[in-house]
Amino acid sequence: MSKKIFSGVQPTGNLHLGNYLGAIKKFVDLQKDIKNNCIYCVVDLHAITVKQDPKFLKKNIRETTAAFLASGLDPKKSIIFNQSMVSSHAEGAWLLGCVARMGWLNRMTQFKEKAGKDKEKASVGLYIYPILMASDILLYDATHVPVGEDQKQHLELTRDIAQKFNSDFNCPNFLITPEPLIQENFSRIMSLKDGTKKMSKSDPSDQSRINLTDDKDQIVNKIKRAKTDSAQLPQNDNDIIKRPELVNLYGIFSSIQNQNLNKTINDFRGKNFSEFKNNLADILVEKIYPISNEIKKLLKDEKYIDNILKTGSIEAEKIARKKVNDIKQKIGF
Ligand code: TYM
Repeated sequence: MSKKIFSGVQPTGNLHLGNYLGAIKKFVDLQKDIKNNCIYCVVDLHAITVKQDPKFLKKNIRETTAAFLASGLDPKKSIIFNQSMVSSHAEGAWLLGCVARMGWLNRMTQFKEKAGKDKEKASVGLYIYPILMASDILLYDATHVPVGEDQKQHLELTRDIAQKFNSDFNCPNFLITPEPLIQENFSRIMSLKDGTKKMSKSDPSDQSRINLTDDKDQIVNKIKRAKTDSAQLPQNDNDIIKRPELVNLYGIFSSIQNQNLNKTINDFRGKNFSEFKNNLADILVEKIYPISNEIKKLLKDEKYIDNILKTGSIEAEKIARKKVNDIKQKIGF
């Protein structure tokens, strides 16, 4: 069955291994099936829900686009564009925001995490952000949305909005309720310094993440210095319980090798930590460094990147505009 795929990544700098393994690698895998219709968006309107320096925003939009391309997305096979060039997204968010309920938004854990203690000082944009995300997805009739585990709740909200709209305006199946594509294992890559904290762009410590722009030495050093416990490498999966840093490093290894955790446990049974870390560093250098290298090359040709975004935006706008017009008609405009 052909799938309509939509997903997005914020251009907030420091794209990391979590973004790659949790999302971008899957974007590329989905693009390989020619039956799939894939649309990938640099969600720059989402980025401005927290303060962005105007000097760096455009650079970050280009860098995220370059990361898409360097990872294997092909503008001939997928629509690649940035959200701020397609005004239908913002218009759709307004229309859908009048269907969404305050109570639903109040439950969003990501808002609570990002707003921190002083919620009153968070931007209104940060609060209504999940509605913009619903608009992104619903305007393209996306059937499947590849994301990391942290976006699951936003996907559920998207489904609630679609169902309420269809029911309020008596138009069954008009807005498609999308399925999240979240891998069963390793859908949450954790910090290299604390296995209980998500790997994140906003962690002040660069040592906590492998950036997609890191060079070979940085990758090797970060893995060498990654936090571990003092117990031996596990004999079986009982031995990994309550060892969050080990689970994370084994998860990264398994995910990048496309193998299950048990195979990784078997591969390293009886070996020592430094041997495992050397292997992990080697495999990351092999898989991530070419991406990092390619990003840097691509960024030298800004026009090329800008053209891809422009062409993609024209294609995206055609689809999204039609859906916004249909939504407006249902509402009674
Ligand atoms: P963003 O930009 O924070 O992250 C992009 C993608 O990377 C995944 N991710 C992770 N996966 C595993 N482990 C991690 N440590 C990790 N950190 C990030 C995220 O789950 C995400 O899939 N709201 C979204 C962007 C968005 C979007 C959309 C996504 C806007 N509109 C429509 C899908 C469809 C976000 O902030 O992702």
